[in-house]
Amino acid sequence: MYTYEELKAFVENCSRCPLARTRKKAVMGKGNMDSGILFIAEAPGANEDRDGVPFTGPSGRVLDELLEGIGLTRGDIYLTNIVKCHPQGNRDPRPEEQEACIAYLKYETFLIKPKIIVCLGRIAAQRILAPDYRITREHGKFLYRKETWMTAVYHPSAILRDPSKMAEAKEDFEKIRQKYQETA
Ligand code: URA
Repeated sequence: MYTYEELKAFVENCSRCPLARTRKKAVMGKGNMDSGILFIAEAPGANEDRDGVPFTGPSGRVLDELLEGIGLTRGDIYLTNIVKCHPQGNRDPRPEEQEACIAYLKYETFLIKPKIIVCLGRIAAQRILAPDYRITREHGKFLYRKETWMTAVYHPSAILRDPSKMAEAKEDFEKIRQKYQETA
């Protein structure tokens, strides 16, 4: 058994894949470990690589707006990524990079014991929910697996690129709010 602080130290010193050679800072998840709700995105961007904290850039502001809409803040949730190091040029993290990193997410999940998991975007949804997950078709639907409610919503960066997705994202967050109340 490892403590959260030990896990964080493993992540920050990790060299299990080539992303370790190009990262500035590995980005451990952050937030409230007792809230019962875990948000999982794909990988740190350039801002997060610099700051060592998830979602400090523009997409973080979109996430904050969505959370605020359902009465939550970052301090109420736990937020992490599938891959803890920034892939240069913001490319999708490769399957082997995800594979090298997934044990950290599994251990975070074990320590947090969430009642609800929310995947932010396709990469997280395909890794956590189903390899053929279609975010445009299936976002906002809940499934119950391993005693946990799981769903996926549009990635905040996708909303930045296409603001027309915001309305659907708000509806999905409303479903998250309801589930969060039910499981409280
Ligand atoms: N995008 C992500 O997927 N994760 C972050 O932490 C920041 C941007």
